[in-house]
Formats: sequence, structure tokens, C-alpha cells
Amino acid sequence: MKIEKITVLGSGTMGHGIAQISAMVGYKVALRDIDQSFLDKAMEKIRWSINKLVEKNKLSREEADATLARITTHVDLKEALRDSDLVIEAVPEDLNLKKKVYSEVDRYAEEKTIYASNTSTLPITELASLTSRPNRFIGIHFFNPPQLMKLVEVIPSSSTEQEIIDTAIGYVRKVEKEPVLCKKDVAGFIVNRIFIPLVHEAAWILEEEKVEMRSIDASVKYKLGFPMGIFELADYTGIDVVHKATVEMHARDKKVINPSPLIEKLYKENRLGQKNGKGFYDYQQGSYTRIDLKEDEATYDPIRLLAVAINNASWLITNDVSSKEDVEKALRLGMGLRYSVFELAKNYGYDRIVNTLNKLSIRTEFYKPDPLLIKLK
Ligand SMILES: NC(=O)c1ccc[n+]([C@@H]2O[C@H](COP(=O)([O-])OP(=O)(O)OC[C@H]3O[C@@H](n4cnc5c(N)ncnc54)[C@H](O)[C@@H]3O)[C@@H](O)[C@H]2O)c1
Repeated sequence: MKIEKITVLGSGTMGHGIAQISAMVGYKVALRDIDQSFLDKAMEKIRWSINKLVEKNKLSREEADATLARITTHVDLKEALRDSDLVIEAVPEDLNLKKKVYSEVDRYAEEKTIYASNTSTLPITELASLTSRPNRFIGIHFFNPPQLMKLVEVIPSSSTEQEIIDTAIGYVRKVEKEPVLCKKDVAGFIVNRIFIPLVHEAAWILEEEKVEMRSIDASVKYKLGFPMGIFELADYTGIDVVHKATVEMHARDKKVINPSPLIEKLYKENRLGQKNGKGFYDYQQGSYTRIDLKEDEATYDPIRLLAVAINNASWLITNDVSSKEDVEKALRLGMGLRYSVFELAKNYGYDRIVNTLNKLSIRTEFYKPDPLLIKLK
């Protein structure tokens, strides 16, 4: 299936980035939002980003101009959808809003148009069922910012046709990203299924084991090879994003997270992380600076965090959601992990991992060791 024109719905954080990278590789892009002023701001950001690439000699002036010329902006949905081969929806994460958007899209989209959603947490199969073409609907989940993050999760619904999956993967490769196929539409897909429960686990450790936050973070960074501490990563992502993902994922699957009340508390206290200067950590004058974690602060043994991460990674493999290679690729490119979790688990000892999970599983089924871990033990 040939994709020439893409319609991006929503020109916010994700939408403008998706529009930019699509236009950069030659697609015609119609960017749609509900108000021209939002589109103007999005185009300003795209121009800024493209000019940076020209300054760094990564793009010629001619290529930059051609890229910008390929993007049109629209408030009129019908116009935005004209002759579109692929719609990528990136409107806010609100099922009712998405419902409304899809019913409008259905009114004007041509028969050939493939529907894709950039949702982080909503069920693809449920979104697909809201439309006239569930078998031509797919999740294409970019990471923030799409201009820089290499990973894209591709999530078929339970009825997506193979041809649509292949086309989506082809599109992801064309925009020079690395696709990982999330074969089943499970809560959190791949990366969030591992990342979000880890934030909660770290919060439980803080409360129950009375370990210093910096010590947990330094251990995660220096012993597990994370790009930063887990609390720092939660602040960087946004406590609102973590909280929202928690609510959606837990509503879909009660076994996916052992939710710590601390996340909701921070969210209610408006401690949203780096974006407003306070989250787990306080940031100077509301601006984001990395937490200066020192290697000698890494005094905590992060086995409990590794156990939870590897258990969820194993669940994805056991349940044929993803291959081991793709889980590792997703964690490397989506979370910036330096080491393979399976290699780490081998070094820490699968025995110790399973024992840790067994002890914890007395309180909730969330910790029950996956059969793959028992096999590897
Ligand atoms: N921000 C992230 O880190 C991130 C990462 C991956 C995926 N996502 C997902 O991407 C989607 C968009 O998130 P975002 O962070 O870009 O949101 P955002 O709030 O930054 O942008 C959403 C845009 O959609 C516009 N909009 C609202 N109603 C619309 C409509 N009917 N038609 C067209 N545009 C409309 C808004 O005006 C806004 O400009 C969500 O589903 C989110 O879960 C977000």
C-alpha cells in the first residue's frame, strides 16, 4: 500500500513532531488542529527545529524549504483528510474526545485511508471499534520527542489486517525510526508496561524500606544502567503522564501494576515533575536540571526493581506479545537502558530474582514470577 499523504490530527507535543519527521522524508502532510493559533505555534516549532538541522549541516537549505513546503495546516477536517492515505491521531489522551474525533473523521475520510492512533495507554482494539474500519486501524506509538526518539511501537488491534501492519512498519522505517511490534494490544504496550510499574515499585521501596531517594536513583543509574534515576525519569516524563498511564493501565488489567498511593498524592499536590519545577525532586526556579547523582551514592541493592522489570519483560515474551529481541530493543531505545535486562538478571542470579518475587507475591499476584523466570532459574 503506497503512502503519499499523511494527515496528523493534533499539532501539540507529539503531532507537530510526527508531522515534521514525516515531511522530512518526503511525505505530504496535512496538520490539523482546532484553532489556527495552535497550528501557527506548531509551525513555529517545526521551523525552529528544521533551522537547527540546517545550522548543524544535517539538512541543506533547499531540503529544509522543501520539507516546510510539504506541510499544510488546516482547521477544516474535511480539507485535511482529502486524498489522505494515513491518518495519525495525536489529540489529547481522553477516550471521549478521541471518540468524537473518530466519528468526525469517519464522516470525511476516503475509503483508502488507514487510521492510526498515537495513544500511549488507550486500548487500540477499543479505539478501532469506534470507527468504520477496525481492520484498517493500528497503533503507531511514537516517543517524546518524535524528532529525537528512535523507537516506535506498532500495535495492531485484534482485527488489524496484515497488510496494514506491514504498511505501518514500512512507514516507521521510512521516517528513520526503529519499529517494535507489540503483537497483542496489552495494557501499557511494551515500554510503559515495564516503566510505569517500576516507578510504583521504587515508591514502595521508598516508603517501606526507608531508603534515601538519591540512593535508589544512583543505584538504578550506576548498577542497572538506566540513563538517570527512576524517580528522576518519572519527573522527566511528568508525574501527570505517569499517573494517567497508571489509571488507564490499572483499569484495563489489575495485575499490571501494584499502585503506590504516592504517585496520586504527588499528582494531586501538583508536583508534576520537571515541567513545573517540583515532583519527586525540586528543580531550581522551575527549570530542569539533571540530578547530580554520584556513583558512591549507589549503596542500595536494586534487586527488587530488577525483579519487577524482568518479570514484566518475561510476561511479554511468555504471552507472545513481543520477542525477547524486541523487548530489549524497546528498553534500549525507549527508556535508554544501557544493559540488557536479561543479562543483568543473569548476573544478579535468576534464583535471587525468583526468591525476591516469591517473597513479595504473598501480598499481591502482581509479583508472581512468570513461568519464563522459573525456567531460566
Ligand atoms: N506527550 C507525550 O510524551 C506522549 C508520548 C507518546 C504518546 N503520546 C500520546 O499522543 C497523544 C497526544 O499527546 P500530546 O502530548 O501531543 O498532547 P498535546 O495536548 O500536547 O496536543 C494535543 C493537540 O490536539 C489538539 N486537539 C484537541 N482536539 C482536537 C481535535 N478534535 N482535532 C485535532 N486536534 C485536536 C489540541 O489543540 C492540541 O494541540 C495522546 O494520545 C498521548 O497519549 C504522548
